[in-house]
Amino acid sequence: MDILGISCFYHDSAACLIRDGKILAAAQEERFTRKKHDPRFPKNATDYCLKEAGITGQDLDYVAFYDKPLLTFERLLMSYLTVAPKGLRSWLEAMPMWLGQKLYVPKIIRKEIGYKGEVLFTEHHESHAACAFYPSPFKEAAILTMDGVGEWATASYGFGKGKDLTFLKELHFPDSLGLLYSAFTYFTGFRVNSGEYKLMGLAPYGVPKYKDLILSELIDLKEDGSIRLNLSYFDFLGGLKMTNSRFSELFGGPERKPETEITQREMDIAASIQSVTEEVVMKMVQHVHKETGQKYLCMAGGVALNCVANGRILREGPFENLWIQPAAGDAGGAMGAALSTWYRYLGNERSIAEGYDSQQGSYLGPSFSNEEVKAFLESRGYPYRDLNAGNRASIIAEHMAQGKIVGYMAGRMEFGPRALGARSILGDARSKDTQTVMNLKIKYRESFRPFAPSVVEEKAPEYFETEKPSPYMLLVARVRKDRCLPQPSGDEIPMLERLKVKRSDIPAITHLDYSARLQTVNKAHKPDYHEVISEFEKLTGCAVIVNTSFNVRGEPIICSPEDAYRCFMRTEMDVLVMENCILLKEEQPLWEEKGDWRSELELD
Ligand SMILES: [Fe+2]
Repeated sequence: MDILGISCFYHDSAACLIRDGKILAAAQEERFTRKKHDPRFPKNATDYCLKEAGITGQDLDYVAFYDKPLLTFERLLMSYLTVAPKGLRSWLEAMPMWLGQKLYVPKIIRKEIGYKGEVLFTEHHESHAACAFYPSPFKEAAILTMDGVGEWATASYGFGKGKDLTFLKELHFPDSLGLLYSAFTYFTGFRVNSGEYKLMGLAPYGVPKYKDLILSELIDLKEDGSIRLNLSYFDFLGGLKMTNSRFSELFGGPERKPETEITQREMDIAASIQSVTEEVVMKMVQHVHKETGQKYLCMAGGVALNCVANGRILREGPFENLWIQPAAGDAGGAMGAALSTWYRYLGNERSIAEGYDSQQGSYLGPSFSNEEVKAFLESRGYPYRDLNAGNRASIIAEHMAQGKIVGYMAGRMEFGPRALGARSILGDARSKDTQTVMNLKIKYRESFRPFAPSVVEEKAPEYFETEKPSPYMLLVARVRKDRCLPQPSGDEIPMLERLKVKRSDIPAITHLDYSARLQTVNKAHKPDYHEVISEFEKLTGCAVIVNTSFNVRGEPIICSPEDAYRCFMRTEMDVLVMENCILLKEEQPLWEEKGDWRSELELD
């Protein structure tokens, strides 16, 4: 039985196909259309899923949509009526999309993919909960979902047991931890729904001096972790902005304009909202543990991508273990809708091998065979060399050990926002220059942004204070103390200067607070990548490398050989590996493009 799940029309459109309950394929539309967070109907992602399954739209048994458009419509209408006529402008802007597309979802699906059967709808937070629990390695577990807003719910908790999900409580719009975090993302000059990661990365540079102000003025935090927002500071109900002038007064001036200088104020605000978020999440988690009595916790929703908070949940308990859906944002809703149909709607039993998740390393997207890569390179006349199983990993490792930056494309593309060694840019973690070089010459992004390490799973405890694997780069762990170096004290040292101080023997991935957003690489899930890191260790004695997503700022992660080559040539990357082909920059023909490609990318 084949079930297709779809999420779209808000942001991060995606499709996921499951066959007899097994996840067969999942991908986000942006990777195909090259438009970041593409919200349109996921035509390309759907076509890919059908192709991977060897079927057409007509062969599908069910199609499930990740949210109930009418409920969301009702929320928008009610929000408008609460503030009318103040919100008229945003209402008028939202309406064409609603009347034109969202309310006609079944019709659109049938037309786009030639499907004739029934279209099912799951609730937004049910979709998040389903993709948090069903692929997890737990037979039963508590479930916590937190995001900006779905229909009405902004957070929910309950538990999963076998094939059943039980929902206990919801927090409702406009009270939302995700929206609160997004309001600060907006205020510090980053883009809502994509810049949240930057705000989290900025936090260690600041001091949480606004924390008490946020807790006393902006939110009312209850013991159970639920919050009430003080709406007199926010503008998302009626306006097109997140925050208003009262909010600005509270933080000593107007919001930072995008792309202007980041000052100590933004860093302190980032530290403050991060600290508040962690406090709220920890309270929620304590409460969920008390109410469900479960040993394990599953999470999804955009807030579950806050890996600093996740690291604290794992370290400080009370749950013994934690599993987070790697596609925690709305893209994962496509998977949740399909899984919910299989287990909840159709009532199929769920059997799992305890300890093993069924996410398959999240390598669920398209792959390109070595023959396809070669055919592409030869058709364009791009010079390359062949690698073979015997020398592949060691040659790549040698380049990295020489300080070269390597674009790496191998196997199936990742599902979720993190690159996990299938579409990654790799570098030497031992060099303190790697962070600046990668940020400014490769990714063309803000130089404060940290990089994440990949470490072979079995060696992780030698470098990081962690015992649990982190295959999806969703947890932050500290670099081991015996590897860390003392830092000069004093906040008067400018941010960029502080970046240059060596913080450990793996400085490229050690954040200012000695933390790292870790990926542990499992040999069974990703043998080619595991071997590259292992060879790097043989050469250098270091089993950690830098892993960042294969894209430039504002661009979705690459999908195809063509995307990979374009990104390779647009940047100062030195080496490109695609399956068993290796390309050296100095051997490539001159790269010319019409117009300024950078101006075509919308900066995130
Ligand atoms: Fe969501």
